[in-house]
Amino acid sequence: MEGSFFCVFRRALLFLSLHVLMICFMHQGYTYGVEGKITSRTVPVGSLLPSTSCSPSTTKASNRKSTLEVIHKHGPCSQLVQDQNPLNHTKILLQDESRVKWIQSKSSNSKDSLKASAVTLPVKSGITIGTGNYLVKVGLGTPKKDLTLIFDTGSPLTWTQCKPCVGSCYNQSDPIFNPSRSSSYANVSCASTACSQLSSGQGGSRCNGTCPYSIRYGDDSFSIGFLATEKLTISPTEMIDNFEFGCGENNQGLFGRAAGLIGLSDSNISIVEQTAAKYDKYFSYCLPSSTSFTGHLTFGKDGRAPCSVSFTPLSTVPQNSEFYGISIIGISVEGKPLSIPSTVFSNAGAVIDSGTVITRLPPTADGEYTTAPAVSLFDTCYDFSKESTVVIPSITFSFAEGVNIDLDHSGIFYVEDASHVCLAFAANAADSDLVIYGNTQQRTFEVVYDVAGRKLGFGPNGCPKMDGPKRKLSVDMLNVRN
Ligand SMILES: *[C@@H]1O[C@H](CO)[C@@H](O)[C@H](O)[C@H]1NC(C)=O
Ligand SMILES: *[C@@H]1O[C@H](CO)[C@@H](O)[C@H](O)[C@H]1NC(C)=O
Ligand SMILES: *[C@@H]1O[C@H](CO)[C@@H](O)[C@H](O)[C@H]1NC(C)=O
Ligand SMILES: *[C@@H]1O[C@H](CO)[C@@H](O)[C@H](O)[C@H]1NC(C)=O
Ligand SMILES: *[C@@H]1O[C@H](CO)[C@@H](O)[C@H](O)[C@H]1NC(C)=O
Repeated sequence: MEGSFFCVFRRALLFLSLHVLMICFMHQGYTYGVEGKITSRTVPVGSLLPSTSCSPSTTKASNRKSTLEVIHKHGPCSQLVQDQNPLNHTKILLQDESRVKWIQSKSSNSKDSLKASAVTLPVKSGITIGTGNYLVKVGLGTPKKDLTLIFDTGSPLTWTQCKPCVGSCYNQSDPIFNPSRSSSYANVSCASTACSQLSSGQGGSRCNGTCPYSIRYGDDSFSIGFLATEKLTISPTEMIDNFEFGCGENNQGLFGRAAGLIGLSDSNISIVEQTAAKYDKYFSYCLPSSTSFTGHLTFGKDGRAPCSVSFTPLSTVPQNSEFYGISIIGISVEGKPLSIPSTVFSNAGAVIDSGTVITRLPPTADGEYTTAPAVSLFDTCYDFSKESTVVIPSITFSFAEGVNIDLDHSGIFYVEDASHVCLAFAANAADSDLVIYGNTQQRTFEVVYDVAGRKLGFGPNGCPKMDGPKRKLSVDMLNVRN
């Protein structure tokens, strides 16, 4: 186990624990110096904890014309949050595990997945998909109705619940969309190209009017309805006419109180492909450093691609072709590369996903098998409740073509509270399992999907960071707790 992946991580983080001890001895004395490294960051513990109030982003990105504000489903910026109180981390992590199993099952079960169409996902018993934690608000119809949708780089079709709810509709926070009240709504014919892109089992010889769709995310998550076109409003100046979406009259599942989902995957029916002429299959987003900030989702280059973005090739992973494939070359801690052959990553393949919270890595460096942690998803957790400051080692991901990403410190830990701060990485069950670069690690970066150019870019400081006057407040809260 000497060369094992997580051992190396733990050893590196022992470094962190030592610092915590040192800080205990020295009180507010020197927080760094011994190691002489400039890469680690000294961070007040309070700044790791999300605030209970929302601080909307005021960055330049919000002035771009094709930009949507991104909010975290469970944070104070979401109007959905009241219904989810108190925040249940166990549930979030179980959903994350389900999503990962679902993504990975497509790779390990190639026969089924080859048959699976772009939209009708294979039903796997007992598996439900956590569909992601980030939301955007779009306008649909004429007059436009605002809908809060989960955005998901792993889903093809955009859909929302529609009246009449013939089967059942789940409880959502926005009023359910009513096609009969919109002058721009039209059903899509089953003879259309759009319908034939949905799935082989529908349309064709049985074509008889409208185009039915059915997305099954698992045992108890689905959306069934008709393919339709509508006017989609992104911002007051940006509208997409005849946008194809699923008008779901029978929906159930783990969508929280979001009205549906916006599909950003690499698929014919996704918004990326549908707006190719307008936005050139180019979009970017920034996920905020904590649930109390907002980020953005922007379509098109909008003449403003930050010059500090570095690009790595986008690839296609066989059997997971809807997901965006990336090539991870290696990982460094405090600037020292871990001794993992890059073939460990390339053999498994890797995707970047907006919906997976915790990054999944190969369990070993050398092909040894270890079992995944049985009790919790996490291998390494810390209790910071007695500390005021911690030193966080830097973690660098290296991607193909020389792209090195220093994670923001908000991208290293999954923080339940000050006494449960866990390294936001988990081991796959086997080295052959698909590696997933999750959304925690993407925080604060401008993540650029140049799908037409087959490139994925990362630019630092895409949206606000936690460092700011707010963290004092959190430190005080901590003291009260002690
Ligand atoms: C959190 O979710 C888990 C799994 O769904 C459940 O077993 C547990 O009872 C929930 N806890 C609370 C406090 O609701
Ligand atoms: C739906 O949400 C409303 C408003 O929060 C609530 O009053 C109602 O009980 C919910 N219904 C169900 C079936 O959960
Ligand atoms: C669309 O199709 C559904 C199902 O056949 C039908 O109930 C509805 O009236 C149609 N709407 C329009 C605008 O044609
Ligand atoms: C979907 O897109 C691919 C290329 O992205 C194309 O080869 C294929 O023909 C398209 N499928 C349909 C049904 O249009
Ligand atoms: C198909 O169309 C025919 C003729 O318009 C109609 O009689 C029949 O009920 C339709 N079948 C279905 C399943 O809608």
